Amino acid sequence: MTEILYKDYYKYANFYDIFNKYRDYNIEGKYLLDMLQNRKRVLDVGCGTGTHLDILNNLGYIVHGIDISSKMLMVAKTKVKCPLYKMDVLDMKLEEKYDAIICMKSVLNHLNNYDEFKIAINNMLYYTKKNGMIIIDFDNSRLTGSFEDKVDGNRRQIEFRYDKENEIDYRKISFYIGAKKFEMEHRYLIYNPKKIEEILNQFNIKYVMLTNYSKQRFNSKDKRLQIIIKKL
Ligand SMILES: C[S@@+](CC[C@H](N)C(=O)[O-])C[C@H]1O[C@@H](n2cnc3c(N)ncnc32)[C@H](O)[C@@H]1O
Repeated sequence: MTEILYKDYYKYANFYDIFNKYRDYNIEGKYLLDMLQNRKRVLDVGCGTGTHLDILNNLGYIVHGIDISSKMLMVAKTKVKCPLYKMDVLDMKLEEKYDAIICMKSVLNHLNNYDEFKIAINNMLYYTKKNGMIIIDFDNSRLTGSFEDKVDGNRRQIEFRYDKENEIDYRKISFYIGAKKFEMEHRYLIYNPKKIEEILNQFNIKYVMLTNYSKQRFNSKDKRLQIIIKKL
């Protein structure tokens, strides 16, 4: 039987970590440490199942996480002991400001348009201290076609369709977990770097666009984009 998942991460939460088993969290973790330096109070926006929170927490950082999905937060709670809040990046209400905010793996690709992107940046900057930093990791793949992988006997099939005119990557994902099949649809806003710059230039910040979790400068063909922002 196929179970149609909600468009959010409602049920995907239960097997998100299965399909991230071979993801290189080491590279991402080292990158975060390199960028954060001694910025010790860190908020993870779209923290998902909490792996980055766990990594940073174990290294002595004081971490808090927010995510729009209560199910993702429930998984995170089993992995890391830190304050976790169900919250939309578009409607942030927190009690303190942070030395740094991280926003890893495509969280902002889930936004609907550039107006929302501007709100998200404004909100994150509000909760960042002066000289603090925001690290945002975007998906920049424009994909059409299909992909399949298998982890510990669990199978995932993804059908991609890139709508060039609207710069949206549609992804229909089927998961085969044991005897069950789940389906989920994602709509990824693939950002135009020029439009990102137009928006970022309206804020009192310095920023740089990098790729590959390294100091390598981003170019438009790269599959991932990291924007490192310093609040002035
Ligand atoms: C691809 S997952 C990334 C999770 C985690 N950051 C990681 O690196 O594995 C995207 C996450 O963003 C969350 N998310 C999507 N839209 C959001 C929003 N508007 N505000 C907060 N979180 C959001 C989802 O619930 C999901 O947990």
